[in-house]
Amino acid sequence: MIDSMSGADGAKAPAPNHVAIIMDGNGRWAQKRNRPRLVGHHAGAKRVREIVRACPDLDVKYLTIFAFSTENWKRTQTEVAGLMKLFKRYIRREAQNLLEEGVRVRFIGDRVRLEPALVDLMDGLELLTADNDKVHLTIALNYGGRDEVARAARRLAYDVAMGKLEPKSICDETFPKYLDTHVLPDPDLVIRTSGEARISNFLLWQSAYSEYEFIDTLWPDFTPDIFAQVVGRFGVRDRRFGAVPV
Ligand code: FPP
Repeated sequence: MIDSMSGADGAKAPAPNHVAIIMDGNGRWAQKRNRPRLVGHHAGAKRVREIVRACPDLDVKYLTIFAFSTENWKRTQTEVAGLMKLFKRYIRREAQNLLEEGVRVRFIGDRVRLEPALVDLMDGLELLTADNDKVHLTIALNYGGRDEVARAARRLAYDVAMGKLEPKSICDETFPKYLDTHVLPDPDLVIRTSGEARISNFLLWQSAYSEYEFIDTLWPDFTPDIFAQVVGRFGVRDRRFGAVPV
């Protein structure tokens, strides 16, 4: 295994504080095995557990994962229902472990279209883990970057209409306070598995200066070792945020 956390001089390379992951490839993983797509999603859920557990050792404080997009409703009813069932099962089964492992869980996305039983579980898990601070896990569920920006703009417009906000005070520092992610730092590194090189409406505002890694591995094959290698590569990147090197 590559010593992913060491730089060329042997010193520990800086880790990305916030890693966001587009977990892609569950369906192809299952198809390759002649199994229904949901089998791939279940294998993917197992990886979620392992990757969350790997974060403290890699100094990754914030992990955000794309579980279900605003566009994923276009899938078959069987797949959508199976995914919703899987999310409920994951929350029920993992709640205690997440609590004991110091993981604070948050959900982003529009909850309005989600079934009340799932929303109750999401609210419950957020409340249960609210005092944790070891790892901040954010699960994007019925999330779309454009939808998030539109909902933020709507809330902002209300505040203007109510006289709580001056239009001239709206800028790139005030706007993100209206996003679902308002309490989170921007992602330093965005990983997409499965070989597709696109961002699919994920964290559009927040990833303006993120580094990207497109990995061929399908999500259910994305092991903690591969995660450690990708995180390790981040340390050698030259991030300039639009400035020139001095
Ligand atoms: C994309 O792969 C994956 C999804 C739409 C679902 C992601 C869900 C999980 C990893 C399940 C567990 C998540 C949690 C939080 C418990 P795809 O199905 O589009 O794959 P394909 O491109 O190969 O068809």
